[in-house]
Amino acid sequence: MGTALNLRKVLPALLALIAITAGCRIDMHIQPYYRPLAKSEFFADDRSARLPVEGTVARGDLREDTYFYTGKIGGNPGDYMPFPVTREVLDRGRERYNITCTPCHGRVGDGKGFIPTRGFRQPPSFHIDRLRKAPIGYLFDVDTNGFGVMPDYAAQVAPRDRWCIAAYIRALQLSQNATSADVPAGQKVPSPAPKFRDIGNGATLPEAEPAPPATETGGEPK
Ligand code: HEC
Repeated sequence: MGTALNLRKVLPALLALIAITAGCRIDMHIQPYYRPLAKSEFFADDRSARLPVEGTVARGDLREDTYFYTGKIGGNPGDYMPFPVTREVLDRGRERYNITCTPCHGRVGDGKGFIPTRGFRQPPSFHIDRLRKAPIGYLFDVDTNGFGVMPDYAAQVAPRDRWCIAAYIRALQLSQNATSADVPAGQKVPSPAPKFRDIGNGATLPEAEPAPPATETGGEPK
């Protein structure tokens, strides 16, 4: 019974203690706040979610180097790469080009991709004089803003990758118009160059490789 009596004595003190300590902790717990997108009576436009101050630039979006983002100088396409062209740049360009552009422009840029065989307008070959002479900033601009019926690829291909692709198109153009004088001294070009054969659905394979077996979803019935 002794414990029960003691409890009765200390209970009020205990409750008082709890009340006091609880009181000490509410300062930051109760404060005015808005639930996301709730209406506000305070702001004239009734929005609690405030718009960024005019002229705010998102981190990493300053785009100070306008040539890098537009390929243009004072409204005209420039004719230099905004960063050095290395082997890595061309490899990246080839990879991105093969993924994004070949369906229409074809692997060598002759405009004989698969999509034009199904009714889409056939793109011009990159090896015509006009496009060989076009400044590299123009190639970047077409990729960034589209051209005629060609959609733009700004959302799918990052700016640096678009430059890598432009550099790779220059390499393709050189490859289709090169002479033995373009081969650096001491280097040999395998002759004859590897041949490609048509495997029937607009795609080509090096002659040495066997064609993949036709599946139900891919390729066309022979
Ligand atoms: C869906 C098909 C398609 C894809 C994919 C495509 N293009 Fe094109 N491209 C075209 C067509 C069609 C034209 C011609 C447009 C016209 O004359 O209306 C064209 C034209 C061009 C031209 C020449 C513009 C001129 O002055 O004649 C360039 C350069 C070009 N494309 C680059 C690219 C690059 C780089 C990619 C990949 C990022 C790409 N294209 C992907 C269809 C495509």
